[in-house]
Amino acid sequence: MNCKKEKTMPEASRLVSSSSGDLRPESIAAFLESPIELFWKESTGTTNDDAKQAARTGVAQAVFTAEEQTMGRGRAGRHWISGRGAAVELSLLLHPDIAGAAAAQLSLAAALGVSDAVRGMTGLVPRVKWPNDVLLSGKKICGILCETAFEGGRLAYAVLGIGVNVNQESFEAPISQTATSLRIESGAKLDRAQFAAALIDGVRARVDQLQKGGLRTLMQDYEESSSVLGRCVDVTTRDGIVTGMCEGFGPDGELLVQTAAGLERFVANDVSVRERPDV
Ligand code: BTN
Repeated sequence: MNCKKEKTMPEASRLVSSSSGDLRPESIAAFLESPIELFWKESTGTTNDDAKQAARTGVAQAVFTAEEQTMGRGRAGRHWISGRGAAVELSLLLHPDIAGAAAAQLSLAAALGVSDAVRGMTGLVPRVKWPNDVLLSGKKICGILCETAFEGGRLAYAVLGIGVNVNQESFEAPISQTATSLRIESGAKLDRAQFAAALIDGVRARVDQLQKGGLRTLMQDYEESSSVLGRCVDVTTRDGIVTGMCEGFGPDGELLVQTAAGLERFVANDVSVRERPDV
């Protein structure tokens, strides 16, 4: 079995700031390349609900952020613990012009956008763990929760909720086994507003690429940064764990795994995937 270790290539950090900054609109807007409406709260339940609420009142596209989330949520109904003052947690409300069936592809595009921002700000080279976790040194720095609404088969809106561990200096056990931060990996404290701006620009650029060129235009970058491609993986499904070699990704971004029973195809919402340790 080919279970290689992840490689990161730290370069000199380009952005070191004495202050970690807040995430107020004026702080982020100063760094944005493509302007977008920004909403901020000191504390909120979850920025994903703030974004959905705004979508229902007719807001087209905007970013919702907060210093703290009291009811942050993750994929598969998990709780997301807020990294108050240290993380960047935000939700991007978008109305992408893509078919409803392609909605799952947004998660892959978002993960690449996060990777672009991390690379640009720190020089570190993240890996993407299918479908949309972003890793450094094999540990998670970012989680993405994509929530969508449909109208007549088309995507009415999408909320890309993104949480990035930016300035945490450490994590308590057991999370310390699986989570890391940009600060821990780069040794530099980042300006959170500047990072948030890079994140928003990065994700919007990748979603734009998805809309204009389709998923195939993203897949080379996605495959190059994949932590699971060519690795042995355990896929946890409703019916149990399936083990096999990740052979690639399907046309809609599904995971393709060669198992004892043949080539199997997994859809992101249905499963979770874990690399097997080296053998
Ligand atoms: C996961 O890894 O399971 C996804 C975590 C997504 C967390 C972000 S933080 C901003 C937005 N608000 C939420 O409640 N969740 C997402």
